[in-house]
This record gives sequence, C-alpha cells and structure tokens, in this order.
Amino acid sequence: TERSLVIVKPDGFHRGLTGEVLRRIEAKGYVLAALKILTPPTALLQEHYAEHEGKPFFEPLVAFMSSGPVTAVVIEGEDCIKGFRSLAGATNPTEAAPGSIRGDLGRDWGEKVQKNIVHGSDSPESAAREIGIWFPEL
Ligand code: GTP
Ligand code: MG
Repeated sequence: TERSLVIVKPDGFHRGLTGEVLRRIEAKGYVLAALKILTPPTALLQEHYAEHEGKPFFEPLVAFMSSGPVTAVVIEGEDCIKGFRSLAGATNPTEAAPGSIRGDLGRDWGEKVQKNIVHGSDSPESAAREIGIWFPEL
C-alpha cells in the first residue's frame, strides 16, 4: 500500500491541532505508520523544500518551518498521497474548501509565508524522497 509524508507544521503544532489532524487521517481510514516530534534543522528543510529554492518565499519558509516543533508522520493506505492532499485542501487557506483541514482550521495570517497547518507529499516520487529525509531509519 501507498505511503505519504505528512507534517503538522509549526503553526498547527503551536495551536494544538496535531490531534485534530491525526484524527482526520485515522477517520479517513489511513494508518499511522511512524510519527515523531522535532524542531527541524535548517539543512533538513532546505533538502525537503529543494524544489522551491530561489523562490521569494523559500527563505521565510525554511525559517518558519524551523521556528518550533512539528509532528512528522508517515501515513499508509491506498491512494493516501492524493487522498491526504484532498483532506488538506488548497495551499492558500483562504481558498481551501470548507471540510478540508486548511479550509476548516486555517486562515490568511498576512505574513510572508502561508501558514497552512499541514504538509503532504504531492507524488509517489516526492513521498519516497521525503520519507527518506525525515525517517532515514525506516
Ligand atoms: P505543502 O504540502 O506544504 O508542500 O504545500 P503545497 O504542496 O500545497 O504547496 P507548495 O509545495 O507549492 O509550497 C510549499 C509551502 O510554501 C506552502 O505550503 C506554503 O506554506 C508556502 N508557499 C507556497 N507558495 C507560496 C506563495 O506563493 N506565497 C507564500 N507566501 N508562500 C507560499
Ligand atoms: Mg508541496
């Protein structure tokens, strides 16, 4: 079965939304395969977000993501990569549909980086790459 990397970002962690995100993942029928809490080092985030290097939001994004603890989770289940992206909703929380994590729980905080509560891998290739970065022990 498919695996995806989910991260409850520092805004979600700080707001106490980790449990709510995990609840939605489990309610959907996906399984939690691995989970850890950490404040991610800058080097890990630069690797994770390599595709965004050079974009105006890259450095603020890395700074934001290393600003406090996150919960990194490997989830498992048929089509869970697409399925979790659907649970998460659109990148911009103002545009994310009600019913989605970002639509129900997020809003535009008017800062340099969109604080949108969660990350989810966007393809099987990304999922394999990201799980390798965050869970090298798996
Ligand atoms: P992730 O699941 O976090 O990867 O979100 P995504 O796949 O919906 O977005 P993407 O990978 O394109 O961007 C990664 C993160 O960078 C987003 O979740 C936002 O936090 C931030 N981001 C992306 N695009 C923009 C943008 O145009 N402006 C700002 N300020 N932040 C952005
Ligand atoms: Mg992405």
